[in-house]
Order: sequence, then C-alpha cells, then structure tokens
Amino acid sequence: MTADATKGFDLARLLAERGGERYDLHARHLNHQLPRMLRTIGFDKVYERAEGAYFWDSEGQDYLDMLAGFGVMGLGRHHPVVRKALHDVLDASLADLTRFDCPPLPGLLAERLLAHTPHLDRVFFGNSGTEAVETALKFARYATGRPRVLFCTHAFHGLTVGSLSVNGEDGFRDGFAPLLPDTAIPMGDLERLERELERGDVAALVIEPIQGKGVHEAPPGYLRAAQELLHRHKALLIADEVQTGIGRTGAFFAHQHESGVEPDLVCVAKALSGGYVPVGATLGKDWIFKKVYSSMDRVLVHSASFGSNAQAMAAGLAVLSVMEDEQLVANAHRTGELLRSRLAALVDRYELLHEVRGRGLMIGIEFGRPKSLGLRSRWTMLQAARKGLFAQMVVVPLLQRHRILTQVSGDHLEVIKLIPPLIIGEPEVDRFVAAFSAVMDDAHAGGGLMWDFGRTLVKQVVGGR
Ligand SMILES: Cc1ncc(COP(=O)(O)O)c(C=O)c1O
Repeated sequence: MTADATKGFDLARLLAERGGERYDLHARHLNHQLPRMLRTIGFDKVYERAEGAYFWDSEGQDYLDMLAGFGVMGLGRHHPVVRKALHDVLDASLADLTRFDCPPLPGLLAERLLAHTPHLDRVFFGNSGTEAVETALKFARYATGRPRVLFCTHAFHGLTVGSLSVNGEDGFRDGFAPLLPDTAIPMGDLERLERELERGDVAALVIEPIQGKGVHEAPPGYLRAAQELLHRHKALLIADEVQTGIGRTGAFFAHQHESGVEPDLVCVAKALSGGYVPVGATLGKDWIFKKVYSSMDRVLVHSASFGSNAQAMAAGLAVLSVMEDEQLVANAHRTGELLRSRLAALVDRYELLHEVRGRGLMIGIEFGRPKSLGLRSRWTMLQAARKGLFAQMVVVPLLQRHRILTQVSGDHLEVIKLIPPLIIGEPEVDRFVAAFSAVMDDAHAGGGLMWDFGRTLVKQVVGGR
C-alpha cells in the first residue's frame, strides 16, 4: 500500500473540526433522549482524554471512573499491553476472517479462558454480552430438546429478544412481546425452582452469580443446590458472568466463590474486550457443543460474521495476560474489601445509608428511609415522586463537585453501584470515600443545593418528563 492510499480520510482533522457538535449530532441522529437526560442532570461534559481509571475534560480536570464503561474497562482505559497487542495485530496484516481456515488466535484465547474453568471444554466467540447469552440459550434449548428457560426476578442478561425474554424487569420487556417461553423465579427459592423443573420442559436456569441490578448475590449454597436440582431434572445451569467475570468480584469467575459450582455454560464479555474490541464468549461442556455441531452439515448452525476476529482475540489474550501479570484478581479482592469495609463503616454515621454490599470491586451502596423527622419528610417527598431519586441526588454531586463518575444501579432503586477498573488502589479508595462522605454530610444537613436539586428532579418526574 502506498502512502497515498491512506489519503482522503483524516480522523484527527474530522474531530478537530466537528468534535464540538457531539451533543447536537446525538440529538439529531441517535437516541435523542441521551443528550436530553445528560443535560438535565448536568452530565453533559466534554471529555477529551482518558488513561487508567481517570479521564480529563476540556479544562484539564481529572475525573475518577467508578463505572468502567459499564464494566468493559476492567483494565482501565488504554492499557499499554492491550494497545500494543492491537497495534501488533494491525501491523501483521493477517488473513483474518477468511471464514474457511482455522486461525490461531481464537484457539489460543479459548485455551487461555478454559484454563480458568477446567470443567468446561469449548468456547463460542461472538461480539457482545447479549450474544453470549443468546448463544447459551440456544445451546441449552438444543442440547436438552426443551423450550423453557428460567431466570431470576430483577435479572439483566442483555436486550436482544432472547436475552430480553430472561430479563427480570418489566420496564425493559413491556411492548416487545411475544418473547420466548420463560419464567421468572425468585433468586434463592429452591422450592419454586423444583416446582418449575417438575414440569419437565425446562432447558436451563440462567443466573448472574451477583445480580448487576441492585448488587444482590445469590444466597450461600443456592448455586450449588440449584445446580443439583437442575441436573437431577436434566436441565442446565447457565452462569451469566458478563459483568462478574474476568476478576471483577475477586475471583476469576464469581461462581467460583462457592465450591462445587460447575455451570454447564458460562457467558463472558465486557472486560475481555480490553475496552477496545467488542467480544462475547460462551464457554461450555463438550457434550453440549458436540450436540449442537453434531454433523458437518451443521458446522455453521450457530455462527457470527465477526466472531473470533483477530483484533478481538488479540485484545482478549492481552487482557488475560495483564490480569495475571498485574495480579488483578487479587487486587480486586483486596482493594474491593478495603473500599467496601470503609464504606460499611459509614452506615452508623449516616441514617440515610442503609447497607454496603458486594464482592471484590462490585459494590452496592443502598440508601433507605431515615429516622429523624426532618429528613424523613424530604425522603418521603422523593419516594412519592419516584423511587431512586435520592440515589440520583448522590450520583450528581459526586460528578459535579467531586468529579467521580458512578451510576444508580437500575431504575427505581435507591442503590449506587461501583464497578471501577480493577487497577484502582488506595488513592482511589481514599478519594471516593472522602467525596462520598462529603455528599452524605450535605444530604444529612437537610438543606442546601443537594435537596434543591432533589426538588428539581421531583418536578421533572411529576411533570411527566
Ligand atoms: C450480566 C449481564 N449480561 C449481559 C449483558 C449484556 O451485555 P451487552 O451489553 O454487551 O450486550 C450485561 C450488560 O450489562 C450484563 O450485565
């Protein structure tokens, strides 16, 4: 290729000339509610640059990222090892995606992933978390010859139609019916699980070992007992580790916190991407894959055009290598414990703070009804308008005043979820705890900007916006 062949498109120039239009472009051509929502809560920032657990705005101010792009930035942003792997793979000009050969990188990534789950044998690579779940649903239904999938109330497994069918929130499902034949069961309720299994039409239970919505963990012993019941009834256990996997909870996979849990299928995505190249992986037992791909005729019965592409595989291999070299699973455990315990110590100090829970660097901070009269009336005003507004009132000053990005952990929830990059350490814990304490001090003072903002939110909700 000559130098001239790269002329004509200049990304840097395009961004310099039109980057300033970002919010208007979204409003005009993409989901128009996003810029609207961001403006409403004052989140309409212009971020220019990012590295590790921080990004910087156009004025050069740093922001601490406690959201990691909904969990995809497990290594933080622009990890040099992942960057180098991507430069290398581009420079190698590989004959990728011929579709009629067996390139080495998918095999190597599968081998490396499976080393973390010795009871599993094979991997299907797709392009996202929802696709990893769709794959598991299809494989479970085909392997068992049964149609119905069980899922837990409040579950989140993605938003394409199959994974939407196992979504535990009406807000996501409403208006998209008919979905697949699926049934919600409460997480932890073994009797209910058994009743459903006795009907003989259940292919699998799909479950997040720790639910992203609200940060709720399966009760101790539940996954193992559920697995036994499922297997007794010839149904499968699918662990959705899209968010909890790759070290997030202080174990490589969250189901590994409990001994003897060996899911038949495990869904992985998010952090495996290195934050760069979308990827999904469904790990499973040999017999399941052998059944789905039972003859040469069926070789493409489940496939994806971009699945196993070299960039995604190179990024995944680099991520797993960094996880080991930097011992990030251990760091997630250690730093997560430090953060969780320091936040938990604040529960006695702040009456609006009810519980701090989670594992590793997946932490939920739950707010609840205060005891003192003055605060209670303010709390009740918010609750009457909409549940979740207080948590939003905390998230906003964390960003506005303390430059820390967090999120409310789902609609109508008074829970903030922290899922920072796994590379954070004590300085980030100190910064977060100091900022959070300052915001809680303001909230408990009962007046001021924070509650003014609360009233603004109430007006918007009541006004039907
Ligand atoms: C547990 C879980 N499963 C599946 C998904 C869907 O992943 P994606 O957004 O990549 O489709 C998510 C996304 O947040 C998730 O948290």
